[in-house]
Amino acid sequence: MAERSYDFLMPSVNFFGPGVIHKVGERAKILGMKKPVIVTDKFLETMKDGAVQQALQSLTEAGVDYVIYNGVEPNPKIRNIQEVKKLYLQSGADSIITIGGGSAHDTGKGAGIILTNGDDITKLAGIETLDNALPPLIAVNTTAGTGSELTRHAVITNEQTHLKFVVVSWRNIPLVSFNDPTLMLDVPPALTAATGMDAFDQAIEPYVSVDRNPITDAQCIQAIQLIEGSLREAVANGHNLDARTKMVEAEMLAGMAFNNANLGYVHAMAHQLGGQYDAPHGVCCALLLPYVEQYNIIACPERFAELADIMGENTAGLSTRDAAELAIKAMKQMSEDVGIPKSIKDIGAKPEDFELMAENALKDGNAFSNPRKGTKQDIIDIFQAAYDAE
Ligand SMILES: [Fe+2]
Repeated sequence: MAERSYDFLMPSVNFFGPGVIHKVGERAKILGMKKPVIVTDKFLETMKDGAVQQALQSLTEAGVDYVIYNGVEPNPKIRNIQEVKKLYLQSGADSIITIGGGSAHDTGKGAGIILTNGDDITKLAGIETLDNALPPLIAVNTTAGTGSELTRHAVITNEQTHLKFVVVSWRNIPLVSFNDPTLMLDVPPALTAATGMDAFDQAIEPYVSVDRNPITDAQCIQAIQLIEGSLREAVANGHNLDARTKMVEAEMLAGMAFNNANLGYVHAMAHQLGGQYDAPHGVCCALLLPYVEQYNIIACPERFAELADIMGENTAGLSTRDAAELAIKAMKQMSEDVGIPKSIKDIGAKPEDFELMAENALKDGNAFSNPRKGTKQDIIDIFQAAYDAE
């Protein structure tokens, strides 16, 4: 066996299961939080008995004061993290609690970054660029999901340039995360599908990443099998707690896997679509996934053949290459079953933007772990294939 060495990041404390939201106050108190900024959106804030109201009740019971920022947007922008920073400083806050999906957590991380590492976050894009600890951060997760509640990734959009960039640092990992599947029972089917496809992609990309290792492989395999067995049901019947529970477990496993093995061109390219057209991240990933992985097959056909098996396809008697092709077919089928559109033209993509987006995708922090090294033209061709899809 070749010599192997790697850092392995483990998220610190993660509460899981129905009702764990009630522990938010107690844990905030243990962490010494006196006045956290609650980072969320208006919809969640006003939802009766929703995640925010339950978390606030728990904080009140624990005697922890708070102030609320409810301006989280999809594809969080620099203006959002600046707004949180301003509120944090003006209100005398000492910590951050994010409540929502990936956008809330990334907004909270972004604000934390500029509070302690310098005001211009664009200068901090890249891998392990942060010198200072963020303010204490708790993440209460309500989608399954980006995994952002336990990963070191903060994805922010520069609204001036429409460029989405990633700050990847161990300092971004929330001190505590909460995954309570009862909070996900009312997530609408389209959002369940989009976030679920993000988790699916986040289990597939680390499985073929150049940074993979046996620990991340195990996490990816289990995540993919859980998603295969529960995403369709979670979309079809949102109130199935068993399906919701399995999807949360899957998104946590995928998050832990890509926290260590990283991602690939699907995410590098999806960030361009998301930044350019303000489209939902999970949908962008799902639209690109089969076309990027078709391109990647020749780099590691045996891994794709394994993926076909993991996804439950019958590969008996097939050549490695034919089994690998079956994996791509299974990815398309999953996407179709949960109602993802077929082509990136459905989210407003325009071929005249492909060149610039390809250039930027190759600079994205996720590009470096892709198993096949592409040229700008290769990336343009993948965008085109995802555009021509019918
Ligand atoms: Fe993602």
